Amino acid sequence: MISKKLGDLLNDQVNFEYYSAYIYFSMAAQFKHDGLNGFSNWMNVQTQEELCHGTAMLNHLVQRGFKPEMKAIPQPPVSWKSPLSIFENALEHEEMVTKRIHGIAAAAESEKDFALLNFIQWFISEQVEEEANDNEIIGQLRLIGEAKGGLFMMDKELGARKFALPVIPGGGLAQAGA
Ligand code: FEO
Repeated sequence: MISKKLGDLLNDQVNFEYYSAYIYFSMAAQFKHDGLNGFSNWMNVQTQEELCHGTAMLNHLVQRGFKPEMKAIPQPPVSWKSPLSIFENALEHEEMVTKRIHGIAAAAESEKDFALLNFIQWFISEQVEEEANDNEIIGQLRLIGEAKGGLFMMDKELGARKFALPVIPGGGLAQAGA
């Protein structure tokens, strides 16, 4: 059984992961509107990953005897001035997610909830990857600057990203069919 305090904390993070999905959906929509279908694909894959993150957390709560509550999801930003500003915003958001995940780990540690601590480890590593991915794309976008050819090439590259169900230990995703 997870404590009420830790359950509420992870429940809030379920909501935040679904909010993250909604932000990336909004970013995908702007890319699509701007004719950058590869960038849009990359963001759509990101959206699906975030839904998996939230669902894995929800499954952990249920396994631990906590009833998850779906909460309101705020409206995401809807407009950015450039692909670079979209990815800068994505990085800023992921840095916030990282802080929250670290906060959950610290709370689990202080309550000696080793099951939650073990579960959240995957997310700690995932956040390193999430920030690195955004940083790499930001670096490339800064390099190409205003060069349309470079943007076109990046669009092709990001269009190749494919969704794969993340293997999150204890996340129950295969069973849940998420
Ligand atoms: Fe699930 Fe991108 O944090």
